[in-house]
Amino acid sequence: MNAVLTVEDFSVDYLVDPVVHAVRNVSFQLERGEVLGLAGESGCGKTTLAYGLVRLLKPPAAITSGHAVFHAADGDVDWNQLHAEELRANRWDRISMVFQGAMNSLNPVISILDQMEDIFTTHRPSLSRRARRQKCGELLERVGVPAARLHSYPHQLSGGMRQRVMIAMAMALEPQIMIMDEPTTALDVVVQREILREISRLRDELGFAVIFITHDLPLLLEISDRIAVMRSGEIVELDNAYTLYTNPSHDYTRQLLASFPSLTGDRGSFVRGAMDDRLLALDAIEGSTA
Ligand SMILES: Nc1ncnc2c1ncn2[C@@H]1O[C@H](COP(=O)(O)OP(=O)(O)OP(=O)(O)O)[C@@H](O)[C@H]1O
Ligand SMILES: [Mg+2]
Repeated sequence: MNAVLTVEDFSVDYLVDPVVHAVRNVSFQLERGEVLGLAGESGCGKTTLAYGLVRLLKPPAAITSGHAVFHAADGDVDWNQLHAEELRANRWDRISMVFQGAMNSLNPVISILDQMEDIFTTHRPSLSRRARRQKCGELLERVGVPAARLHSYPHQLSGGMRQRVMIAMAMALEPQIMIMDEPTTALDVVVQREILREISRLRDELGFAVIFITHDLPLLLEISDRIAVMRSGEIVELDNAYTLYTNPSHDYTRQLLASFPSLTGDRGSFVRGAMDDRLLALDAIEGSTA
């Protein structure tokens, strides 16, 4: 085990009347370089958990128990102990997040270059303007968007391109953990797969760990090393993707699997291997992500 993040007894409430216990006593470890899928039906607390982990929750949300400890090369960092300023500094540097519906969160009146450059101006103030621009161009190319697009405005890009820009921005500071909350749900299947392949390639190249959130279980089975199944704020099962698929131990996981008809067919078609192999091997269940 070589964990990059340890989450222990983590709980989040929304302090409304009646109180919503959105995340309940969640514990897990994220390994360096792994893709951990987080599945579960709408409203089970996936986004709340993600926001809680990066401490982006706002009232009425409150963390009511637990820790999230980041195991950095220079020592452990307990996120609950950080002050606002330290959080800001650490957040995109060590852990970054692609938000649910992120592609609509780009500022429409600011060019892609200016929005991307802003990350470096804030977090890497010693970089020259020239170096910043070069980095922005490289980042875009990395996610498959021509660098010439730097001068575009968001409305001049397709949804898929905007989503890639958001992923590029999340990678900008080379974090060790990227949390992706439904990063491709709004996109068509072809673009979705292209982006997933891209994430897979970049993960291999850069070695970051990913927490990948979606209610799309077939998709998670393809791309995840391990999968956590969440229900009513709790993680009810966490296992490697193959075991979870072939031999789910929790009733709810079985129900969830059964709710995707394409998954109930020939289980022999599930071949465990590198993420890219899985993307190919699982073409048999492709229809389910449409
Ligand atoms: N601001 C809020 N105030 C009160 N309750 C909230 C608030 N935001 C979320 N909730 C509740 O917290 C629970 C978890 O919501 P959350 O958005 O984390 O679910 P999710 O698993 O991400 O769902 P989805 O798959 O639809 O994105 C839900 O019951 C939701 O209604
Ligand atoms: Mg959500």
